[in-house]
Amino acid sequence: MTEPVESFTYTAHASRVLFGAGTLSRLRDETERLGASRVLLLGRRTDRAAAVLGPLAVARFEGVAMHTPVEVTEDALSLVGEHGVDCLVSIGGGSATGLGKALAARTGLPQIAVPTTYAGSEVTPVLGETADGEKRTRRDPALLPKTVLYDVELTLGLPVGLSVTSGLNAMAHAVEALYSPEANPVVDRFAVDALTRLARALPSIAERPDDPEARSDALIGAWLAGICLGSVAMGPHHKLCHVLGGSFGLPHAETHAVLLPHVMAYRAGSAPEAMRRVAAALGATDAPAAVFDLATRLGAPGSLAELGLAEADLPVVAEQSGTPGVLEALGEAWRGDRPVAAGEKPDLSRLTEQVVASFSPASDPRVAGLLGDLVRRLHGFVADNDVTEDEWMTAIGFLTRAGQMCSPTRQEFVLLSDTLGISSAVDLLTNSRSPDTTPSAVLGPFYVDGPPAVASGANLAEGLPGVPLRADVLITDLDGRPVPDAVVDVWQSNQDGFYDVQLPDLEGPVLRARLRSDADGRLWFSSILPSEYPIPDDGPVGEMLRATGRHPYRAPHLHFMISAPGFRKLVTQLFVAGGKYLDSDAVFGVKDELIVEFPPGPDGGRTVEFTFRLGASDG
Ligand code: BEZ
Ligand code: FE
Repeated sequence: MTEPVESFTYTAHASRVLFGAGTLSRLRDETERLGASRVLLLGRRTDRAAAVLGPLAVARFEGVAMHTPVEVTEDALSLVGEHGVDCLVSIGGGSATGLGKALAARTGLPQIAVPTTYAGSEVTPVLGETADGEKRTRRDPALLPKTVLYDVELTLGLPVGLSVTSGLNAMAHAVEALYSPEANPVVDRFAVDALTRLARALPSIAERPDDPEARSDALIGAWLAGICLGSVAMGPHHKLCHVLGGSFGLPHAETHAVLLPHVMAYRAGSAPEAMRRVAAALGATDAPAAVFDLATRLGAPGSLAELGLAEADLPVVAEQSGTPGVLEALGEAWRGDRPVAAGEKPDLSRLTEQVVASFSPASDPRVAGLLGDLVRRLHGFVADNDVTEDEWMTAIGFLTRAGQMCSPTRQEFVLLSDTLGISSAVDLLTNSRSPDTTPSAVLGPFYVDGPPAVASGANLAEGLPGVPLRADVLITDLDGRPVPDAVVDVWQSNQDGFYDVQLPDLEGPVLRARLRSDADGRLWFSSILPSEYPIPDDGPVGEMLRATGRHPYRAPHLHFMISAPGFRKLVTQLFVAGGKYLDSDAVFGVKDELIVEFPPGPDGGRTVEFTFRLGASDG
């Protein structure tokens, strides 16, 4: 049997395109090329264009608006007659381009578009207008701008958030072109190249928004995606976005960004070839998951819930979009679940259960239980995230380096646990079950057992530079009765943010001591005001922090470990109110109840008073 011959219709929409850095400087030539001499400039930022045009710029209209409302168009239209305009120049995103088209539709005037986002509509003959709250779309070759000036320089300042959502919007045009009923080999080429460029450029832009190479890549990608949008019919994704924007007021580009991977998962079964192409363009195996991961990594909004849609509206959205069977995908998009392509993955359950069963001979059932659950979760993690061999090796390398970094004074695994919030999670679950006791906080790697015993009144910072601090501490039980003879270990960093164990040249313990509460439950000492400091970040944990754009700083704090017979040991920290990084402590140790005022003292220094409330021990 012979394969049926491929058959398709392809309409090219011809416009003249100038691409490069600084192409705006050619605006006057291009205007004259169209035989025009009286330009109406459309857009919020048209100063540079006006300067290039000189006397050719006869009027400007800045009031562009989303979804091209007809009232706005009418306002702008009055300028056309008033000034004898013979050419429209739009500069900006989809709203500016849309207004240019709306005016062209009413006047027949030629347009030049100077797009500054990745919307793509500058190369489509399509216009969506809103009148009386309803959006209507028309398609007419006359709507197509005659000339498009892509000026990379104009996109350098596009904020990262907008670049990301606008770029994902462009990717949606390319994806839907690949499974469009009107798909054809020409448009497929544009789509694949658009996806490759955008997937490559957007992460670079997120890191360096003014990188001209990445900006150029993204802008070419957006142009190609725009050609896709204008050449073939778009599918379920665009229908859903239309409903979500039109009837539920969700923001255009953000909605695209959230919805795309879920609609792809919905279409994956019936469009395997399109998915294979998208996955290949993104260097991945599972297209919907790869787009989801890209959007997540770029910090795009993650769910329809986040965009303000009510869960109860999902069936209405599904119904209005006329897309059968899409409700489940919409639910996933609403929750922000990572989409999984249906049914293609090998089933791991036999392997997983084999490994879990291998632990059952363990003499301690708790060991078997913990290991079994860990293996189940790790296997699930590998499967759900399609972890590649490279990623797995990277993780092994990371852990190996963490282990090699460990020494008696450098606990890289503790730091890892701290920076992943695991230490705080264990601490919260084990120590903070009673709301009446002083909350606990992580121990950290700088505690040294058996600090020097000193009497109340001692100065822990003898001879060290820093803002003098006087601390007055009271220890009570839950009824406010003083706890005498409690052993209280205190430790802190120096003015430069280092603990003594981090300074090999230092002799003996510094800025750490053991005190005892007196008969009234009180103790007091002098020291220096703690300052913020970075946790050690010259190892793998530091790599992780940098790779995720996190800083390594801890908010300024004093450490306490308090033990008394009959009471639960309390390990905690007091944070200096008004200090830096209270909202973004690198180890997630800050709790509101532990943020304390350190008011000025009599000697030009600072003071702190605090009452620690201990819970009774269990036994
Ligand atoms: C600390 O406060 O000493 C600390 C806690 C966790 C990680 C690093 C330092
Ligand atoms: Fe500390």
